[in-house]
Amino acid sequence: MKLLIVYGTVEGQTRKICDRLKNEARLNGHTVSINNSTGPKLSPFGFDAIIIASSIHNEKFQASIEQYVGDYAKVLNNMVGAFISVSLTAAHDVPEGWEELEKITKDFLHKTGWYPSFIEHIAGAIRYSEYNFFKKYIARNIAKRNNAQTNTSEDHEYTDWGQVKRILTKVEKAVAETKRV
Ligand SMILES: Cc1cc2nc3c(=O)[nH]c(=O)nc-3n(C[C@H](O)[C@H](O)[C@H](O)COP(=O)(O)O)c2cc1C
Repeated sequence: MKLLIVYGTVEGQTRKICDRLKNEARLNGHTVSINNSTGPKLSPFGFDAIIIASSIHNEKFQASIEQYVGDYAKVLNNMVGAFISVSLTAAHDVPEGWEELEKITKDFLHKTGWYPSFIEHIAGAIRYSEYNFFKKYIARNIAKRNNAQTNTSEDHEYTDWGQVKRILTKVEKAVAETKRV
């Protein structure tokens, strides 16, 4: 298949996840293009499937991803599409956190008008060593709310790489279905 991956990141974890998806997809023999949503935009026209990934910061997905999805919603609604939400909240089973995640995602999709084939919440990372004082303070508060690590002397990666691989399998299956019809 011809796969397009578009990602929005601040500290790089979403790019890392998308690079993994790209490498796995290429190993499986697919043609993959990858695009940072803050750079020149790649149109989804002509691709069999798209994976759009964005991290959440301050309860919002990346503005550049919102712009991309809004601009191409009509095309996206006619192709296999996976939306990946990357957050710290997804790392733990705190019910209020998950309610918030569902709401942020629902609002985003409603606003942009995109109906992805499926949505996945992936746990990101918390890299205290790379944050300035202000970011460290915010990140620590989010960590506290979600029972994540508040020890700021260490970095913590929560991403489930098995889940990342399973997302690719889902996309492959969905594309195979459309080709069968
Ligand atoms: C300043 C800041 C704000 C954040 N806000 C949220 C948030 O509102 N909800 C959440 O679940 N995670 C939040 N996070 C955690 C990020 O989603 C997580 O670190 C993710 O891995 C970042 O991905 P990125 O490196 O691709 O931007 C925040 C992190 C930082 C540093």
